[in-house]
This record gives sequence, C-alpha cells and structure tokens, in this order.
Amino acid sequence: MRFSEGLRLRTIYGIFKILQNFGNYTAIKALGLYAHWQYQDVESAIEFLLSLLRLYSEHTEQHSRRVAEILTSFAEYQNWKEMEVLKLAGLSHDIGKIAMIGLANKNGELTERERDEMKKHVAYGVVLLRCLASLNEDLIGKLIEIVGDHHEYFDGSGYPNCKSGKNISEYARALTIVDHYAALTEKRAYRGALDLESAIEEMNTHSETSRRFDPKILEQFLNYKRAGNK
Ligand SMILES: [Fe+2]
Ligand SMILES: [Fe+2]
Repeated sequence: MRFSEGLRLRTIYGIFKILQNFGNYTAIKALGLYAHWQYQDVESAIEFLLSLLRLYSEHTEQHSRRVAEILTSFAEYQNWKEMEVLKLAGLSHDIGKIAMIGLANKNGELTERERDEMKKHVAYGVVLLRCLASLNEDLIGKLIEIVGDHHEYFDGSGYPNCKSGKNISEYARALTIVDHYAALTEKRAYRGALDLESAIEEMNTHSETSRRFDPKILEQFLNYKRAGNK
C-alpha cells in the first residue's frame, strides 16, 4: 500500500472514530456516504471498506475474502447464477464490524454482553450498503437481502429478525453455511483452526439437533467439500 493511501485510510478512520462519539449509526452513515461519493461502482466502494478493515482487523478482512471465495466456488458447483452478487455478498457480509474493531480483535471469547453488541454488525453492514444504493439499486437490494440475513438460522433461532426456513433467501442460507465453515476452519485467538472433518462433524451436529442450517444446502455443501473442493 502506498504511503499516501495508508495515510488517507488512517485519516478516514480517525474521523470515523470521532464521529462514533455521536453514535455508531451517525459514523456508519457518514462513512457510507463518503464511500458513495468517492467511488463510481459498488465493488470499488466495498473494496475501499475492506481496505479499512484490513488496516484495523486483518483477520476479519481475510475471513471476508475467504467466505467470498468459498461461496462463489460452491455456487459454481451448484450451477447458481449471479456469481457477482454472491462474491460481493461474501466480501461485504461482515463489513459492519468496522464499527466494533475492539470486539473484532478481542483476544479471547466475547462475554454475553459483547456478543449482543457484536450482533449489531449485521445492521451496520446493511446501513453501509444502503448508502451505496444509488450506485446500483438492483445489486444493493440483493446484497442487503443476503447480508442482512447472514446470521438468521433455518430453525428461527438466529438474528436480527428470527426469520426461518424459506423466509430466508437461498443465497443467504448458503452464506450462513459457508460463513460458519470458514469461521470454524480459521484460527482464533481463543482456539485453533478445526480441520475439514472436525468442522463438517460440528456442522452436522447442528443440523441433527437444531437445524440451524438448511439441511439440503448443508448436504450439498458437505458433498462439495468431500469432493475435495476448497
Ligand atoms: Fe457476521
Ligand atoms: Fe463472517
């Protein structure tokens, strides 16, 4: 990264931190409007937001890229269309964490209160995306539908709206599965990375007991992984 680009990003984040004194939504909206003003297309604006994340929470940025990569590769296996939408959904699904860098980088498991706070990253992400709407309304509408539901569970036990079953779009149900798989196989400060079989076992356990994941898509995802895909 060029020095001037690093300085620009640090300055933007510094202003964002100051605006957080007026509330996270104020700061998030200002950041979203800046991204809209600076960039001509949705992908460039999302890449800009990811570069801010990279500067302050590298593992969140890497996780987002990995989710986008696995999701698009799985989508290809499924013969799904709209690869661009799925790629951008993967890249932007955790973008709201920019408002909670301290929690995203915490060394150790989050407390219950911190977990509740962390849940707001979904709403912040949606606000950021909504700020980009006039760049491409159709695309942003699709992204909001997927990103806004990426923590909803098939059995209705997720957040923020306790949606269940097919009230959650197929792409959001797939993103939830890929997101969990990616998180389980990444190293975290408080635990090591699970290997493929342990991660699959963990996700199967959930499907048998509480059906957090769409059983059909989970089975297709497990077949996709067991076929040796990344
Ligand atoms: Fe998330
Ligand atoms: Fe995630």
